Amino acid sequence: MHLTPNEERTLAGEEGSGRQKAMELVVAIGDIYGAERLIPISSAQVSGASFKTIGDAGIRFLEDFSKEAKATVRASVNPLGLDLRRWRSMGIEDGFKEKQSRIVSAYSAMGLEPLYTCTPYLSGNRPRPGQHLAWAESSATVFANSVLRAMTNREGGPSALASAIIGKTAEYGLHLKENRAPRVRIDLEAVPPGLVPLAGYVVGKIAGNRIPYLPGLSLSQDEHKAFGAAMAATSAVSMYVYSDRGDRRRPDMSRVEERVSLPASELAGCRDSLKGDDSWDLVAIGCPHSSPSELRSMARFLKDRKPAGDADVWFCTCRKAYAACPDAVRVLKRFGKVLCDTCMVVSPIERMYKRTASDSGKAMVYLPTLGKQRPTFRTTGQLLEAISR
Ligand code: F3S
Repeated sequence: MHLTPNEERTLAGEEGSGRQKAMELVVAIGDIYGAERLIPISSAQVSGASFKTIGDAGIRFLEDFSKEAKATVRASVNPLGLDLRRWRSMGIEDGFKEKQSRIVSAYSAMGLEPLYTCTPYLSGNRPRPGQHLAWAESSATVFANSVLRAMTNREGGPSALASAIIGKTAEYGLHLKENRAPRVRIDLEAVPPGLVPLAGYVVGKIAGNRIPYLPGLSLSQDEHKAFGAAMAATSAVSMYVYSDRGDRRRPDMSRVEERVSLPASELAGCRDSLKGDDSWDLVAIGCPHSSPSELRSMARFLKDRKPAGDADVWFCTCRKAYAACPDAVRVLKRFGKVLCDTCMVVSPIERMYKRTASDSGKAMVYLPTLGKQRPTFRTTGQLLEAISR
């Protein structure tokens, strides 16, 4: 890979060992993927922030790095294993909180923004089309590439952090225009209400490692958020191409190698396979983190109803959305906990619950593995009905 004289100096350690380590990591990745050069990024988003997922080894890595390195571009952090203000009400133990606090301190010493969300684009960091990023959270990278038309690979936590420190990433993969062309066309029938997350779940399984083209995919921003998160969870791709009604853009179809029809009946079949039963001890909504419009819409439905059922309820969101709609938050709190900084997958729910119902296609993938839960899919509307009367 060609490095500029300044980059060579960083690599030689002339700017300190922290920047040197970060440069070594980014250059090694660039070499593996055949990148020709480094390119500047406008922001980074770092995953690997919950003590549950990174453990003691992760804390040591971050604490070592934080002694000698600082972010030089805007950078934020993925959800933690707890809500920093409401962790006791979640049933989190003191020992976990103490370890989690060390992770938070290390990231803050490196100058990362304390957003602790998978939706930085709802928290004031909304990239512009064509901007290069080093984002790690899979649901955020797919939203950035597909909806915002920014350019990022799905980084690992350490590589996103290294990019935040040197302000650059290696130019390969989705940073190159020629790699952003779709390779499979998926004709999706109209998606039944509430099943958008499952549409993403099934599209991801069909796509595998190929960018799909979805003609006529007409979704709201919140629906894109849920669709892309599920697609990225069941596939290795971090981007889809879609055309909406009246869209004049013509995607480059020259690399499409297969055309697949996805009838609504297949989504219904997927819903049935994830149906589980009605016995759950946690209802978890907000994967990816709920937007202000989602919080308001749930509050409108629940406003004149009363809590029902024995299950605990978590509404997971980001701090900005929480602060943006206090009235909605007040209503939701009558029915459960409104949590920031964390989610049902990266918090240690396995210590508290066994069966979790969610409206998220992504959660259906990770609740059984990371969360050791028996998962049940219900639409948001069905879950709101179940927790109220
Ligand atoms: Fe976000 Fe957690 Fe889901 S990080 S995308 S709410 S698994």
